[in-house]
Amino acid sequence: MSSNRREFIKGSLLGGAALAGAGLAGAAEAGAGSSDSKSLDILVLGGTGFIGPHMVGEALRRGHSVTLFNRGRTNDDLFPDLETIKGDRGGDLSMLEGRKWDAVIDNSGYVPRHVQNSARTLAPNIGQYLFISTISVYASFTSANDESSQLATIDDESIEEVTGETYGPLKALCEQRARTEIEPDRLTILRPTYICGPGDHTDRFSYWPVRVSKGGRMLVPGGPEYPLQIIDVRDLANFTIDCLDRRTADTFNTVTPVGSYNMGRLLDDSQAVSATRVDPVWIDEGFAREAQENSQVQNWGMFPIWHGLQGDNAKVSSVSGKKAVAAGLKNRPVRETIRDLLSWWKTLPAERTASMKAGMSPETEAELIARYAATTE
Ligand SMILES: NC(=O)c1ccc[n+]([C@@H]2O[C@H](COP(=O)([O-])OP(=O)(O)OC[C@H]3O[C@@H](n4cnc5c(N)ncnc54)[C@H](OP(=O)(O)O)[C@@H]3O)[C@@H](O)[C@H]2O)c1
Repeated sequence: MSSNRREFIKGSLLGGAALAGAGLAGAAEAGAGSSDSKSLDILVLGGTGFIGPHMVGEALRRGHSVTLFNRGRTNDDLFPDLETIKGDRGGDLSMLEGRKWDAVIDNSGYVPRHVQNSARTLAPNIGQYLFISTISVYASFTSANDESSQLATIDDESIEEVTGETYGPLKALCEQRARTEIEPDRLTILRPTYICGPGDHTDRFSYWPVRVSKGGRMLVPGGPEYPLQIIDVRDLANFTIDCLDRRTADTFNTVTPVGSYNMGRLLDDSQAVSATRVDPVWIDEGFAREAQENSQVQNWGMFPIWHGLQGDNAKVSSVSGKKAVAAGLKNRPVRETIRDLLSWWKTLPAERTASMKAGMSPETEAELIARYAATTE
């Protein structure tokens, strides 16, 4: 597996450090969908990380009731007015037995056994089970994927350690386990690509607008035409609750439309939002790849969310989202994502913003610009 693929797959992993307030505020502002159906009782497995708070916020905004299930380690004080059932997905789930919910959102399922256990425990007493998966489930990114594309597999299905290598295959197996426990007309699977927006604690998408806001000479890989795909966390949250409101049971990639966004537009939008100009130094793909491979890659890599047009990851940013759009997914303009992201970023403490978890340090960037200039002299 190439280092780029590993980065992408790793990139989809989330820790639990999202900043609390941003999540709920973001969801409340988004407000694209509205409930024209009955109020639902929703159980969220997770709910206090990055994407969970946006989903909880949107569900509450539409008048639904929400119960959380988590260990109480992540942003424990985020929803003081909601019932939280404390428990570990890897352990005893008896506290969920016999409780009734109209729908379950599973956004913390990384281990197949966990998903199987929760789905099996809850199945007799729930209406719908919605599993948050990932586009990393696809077996290959050398060609463009849609929902029917082949999924990754893992030789040893008993593995539970989630790493850059196992993340995608394990999520695919999680999907499979959910399918064995929940009938197709009650199961919804969403496969997001890079989720971004206020509260994103990975800094992968954020690196670019934040870097642009600082101005000056800026190293950018590939060229303006290099494609990008993301999903705004608020759009994902709206679509998630839409699927519950409409009882939509199917599998969907949740991504911005193929061909709708690229590095050039990312720079343009970021400059427009932050009213800053950068002087881009576009480095070619080969140089970028080599720089990435030779670096002591920290966190999410030097060129987060960017993929070359050659090699194993050529089509990571070409995943079809048509099916979700037909089912109601609405992607807001990325410029709006950038605006809200930068507003949120400014609210973070200085020690948090001082070192980003993705992208390049100013020193590395300057050094690479000098090295690139030397190769083109
Ligand atoms: N970020 C991306 O770009 C991206 C892309 C594609 C897909 N995804 C998917 O998005 C989801 C991540 O969502 P997120 O950011 O909200 O999640 P997260 O930060 O990974 O999950 C945290 C939530 O799950 C709870 N949790 C974690 N482990 C638990 C356990 N063993 N038992 C019970 N609760 C547990 C946490 O609370 P406690 O710590 O208090 O238990 C917290 O509420 C994942 O399914 C991931 O595969 C993400």
